[in-house]
Amino acid sequence: MADLDIRNLHVSAEDKQILKGLDLAVSRGEVHALMGPNGSGKSTLANAIMGHPSLEISQGEIEFLGEEITESDPEERSRAGLFMAFQYPVSIPGVTVAKYLRMAMNAHREARGEPEVKLKDFRKQVEAAMELANVPREFSSRYLNEGFSGGEKKRMELLQLALLRPKLAVLDETDSGLDIDALRVVADGVNRYAGPEMGVLIITHYQRILHLVEPDFVHVMFDGRIVKRGGPELVTLLEEKGYGWIREEVEAAA
Ligand SMILES: Nc1ncnc2c1ncn2[C@@H]1O[C@H](COP(=O)(O)OP(=O)(O)O)[C@@H](O)[C@H]1O
Ligand SMILES: [Mg+2]
Repeated sequence: MADLDIRNLHVSAEDKQILKGLDLAVSRGEVHALMGPNGSGKSTLANAIMGHPSLEISQGEIEFLGEEITESDPEERSRAGLFMAFQYPVSIPGVTVAKYLRMAMNAHREARGEPEVKLKDFRKQVEAAMELANVPREFSSRYLNEGFSGGEKKRMELLQLALLRPKLAVLDETDSGLDIDALRVVADGVNRYAGPEMGVLIITHYQRILHLVEPDFVHVMFDGRIVKRGGPELVTLLEEKGYGWIREEVEAAA
């Protein structure tokens, strides 16, 4: 069985059915891309994977590492090794990057029954992670997400990735507003960290990022379901033909 195994997932929000029977399996060592037109339910899937409280799961299951997590709260999922980069990162007034990272790290340690990280060890680990994520030193004393550029927000996410070493990362990329610097940061991060220890699910409307990261598997969503699966060749096909033909295929099959 896959590390993340989603079966027949039906999700609604505010009485609106959004996911209508979705199956997806992602394992460590694999890079998956989830594509689809705006409104097809991509972000809802990401939120359902992380356990967003506003969503109602009416049918289906989500399993992670053999444990059923359909009803687990977001913290439990995060401790189990799921990581989600938010489409719109929040800024927390008065909290510096370093403080935030320490809080995140301690939450994970607490879950594993370990004591809080010693300041000296924390500094060492952050420095190593910053080097890996290619983040300048002074970044750690800035306030979280305050005045961050698109690229800096992405660097922040990578820094978390480098420190927390999740088993599966879900990266929901904005459809607009990601400049080329930000795209490169994300792509570098995925290319650097994706490996036998981590699986990645990149969610994107546009193909741009998939020129920098080659996914092993590509899934195309339409109206709450995955309607096409393939390899990187699907990215090229979508680039040439857009999403219109998928709609036609789905409607012809209905
Ligand atoms: N919290 C919510 N309440 C009601 N409708 C929602 C909510 N979140 C998303 N939707 C609707 O669900 C559909 C899918 O949205 P979303 O998952 O954001 O799609 P995508 O990320 O593919 O653009 C859209 O029609 C959107 O308006
Ligand atoms: Mg979205």
